[in-house]
Amino acid sequence: MSSLPLAYNQIDIQRGMTTSSTAIFVPFTTQELFQPDKEALYYGLNALSNNLIMVDRKKLKNPNGLILGTPGSGKSFSAKREIANAFLVTDDDVIISDPESEYSPLVERFGGQVIKISPTSSQFINPMDINMNYSDDDNPVALKADFILSLCELIVGGKEGLQPIEKTVIDRCIHKIYQKYFENPVPENMPLLEDLYNALLAQEESEAKHVATALEIYVHGSLNVFNHRTNVDITNRLVCYDIKDLGKQLKKIGMLVVQDQVWGRVTENRSAGKSTRYYMDEMHLLLRDEQTAAYTVEIWKRFRKWGGIPTGITQNVKDLLASKEVENIFGATR
Ligand SMILES: Nc1ncnc2c1ncn2[C@@H]1O[C@H](COP(=O)(O)OP(=O)(O)O)[C@@H](O)[C@H]1O
Ligand SMILES: [Mg+2]
Repeated sequence: MSSLPLAYNQIDIQRGMTTSSTAIFVPFTTQELFQPDKEALYYGLNALSNNLIMVDRKKLKNPNGLILGTPGSGKSFSAKREIANAFLVTDDDVIISDPESEYSPLVERFGGQVIKISPTSSQFINPMDINMNYSDDDNPVALKADFILSLCELIVGGKEGLQPIEKTVIDRCIHKIYQKYFENPVPENMPLLEDLYNALLAQEESEAKHVATALEIYVHGSLNVFNHRTNVDITNRLVCYDIKDLGKQLKKIGMLVVQDQVWGRVTENRSAGKSTRYYMDEMHLLLRDEQTAAYTVEIWKRFRKWGGIPTGITQNVKDLLASKEVENIFGATR
């Protein structure tokens, strides 16, 4: 009878309680994260108070996101859930780098564009694409050179990455091939990987020949997926780059190229006053090589300033923490 909520105590015991024992009945210590904005998205329930967690990442100090978890724990699913929420609630563009080919049903259901990049696909994106807004200083080629050096590192670099002389000759050639484009910026003048290859062959240094030879398979050989002009519509509000069928080495290159395409989109969207959400599954792959990691960090840091909202998805915390730059991207400590 005493245990019923009738406020009728038949047991003749009374007990005093200290503040800390009383506190267990009231969640005095819960911290809530609830932003009542129009564009706030759902992120789950507060484990202590069971209240909704609603956040507009654009309003946080740092909008960059990271989804961590063991394989099969639902990382990709939680990304899909956030994508669906963002697509319906906001006007933002959403771009996905999909190395496991698992986002296309969702993207197609929303009327988005799936771009399949593989050695047998007829859809191409050109890693050399550049636009006038590509960088906010006067020299868009300098940032593009950073990207192409990263690309070359994945292609040529051994354990130590690119050597200083190799970097110099590549950089010299990059400026040369873009000069022609900027004199007359029509799509037919957009450089291809092949132009870089030819420019390298024309240099005197033996290092240039070395790099050119490594590039050859990507230009004339069987891995020439990235030696074509862009022929797909990448202006849809929801774009998914399916790179599953690229082999292991090509996959990293594919992720880097997609990231660069996203950057191009972010720069264009900024002039239109639009935000760009970018989801990168298996993001740790890009933090393994030094130059590539440095470029990725640079781009992720720039995203915030330019209205980009990137989310990395990974189960490989070891590779992530091994990168010196995690704090710089996520504004967090180890
Ligand atoms: N909240 C959830 N409710 C029900 N099923 C889920 C949920 N999250 C994930 N799953 C299922 O669990 C499986 C693994 O999820 P997935 O997102 O692919 O994991 P990860 O990307 O972390 O490897 C999938 O079949 C997915 O549909
Ligand atoms: Mg997954």
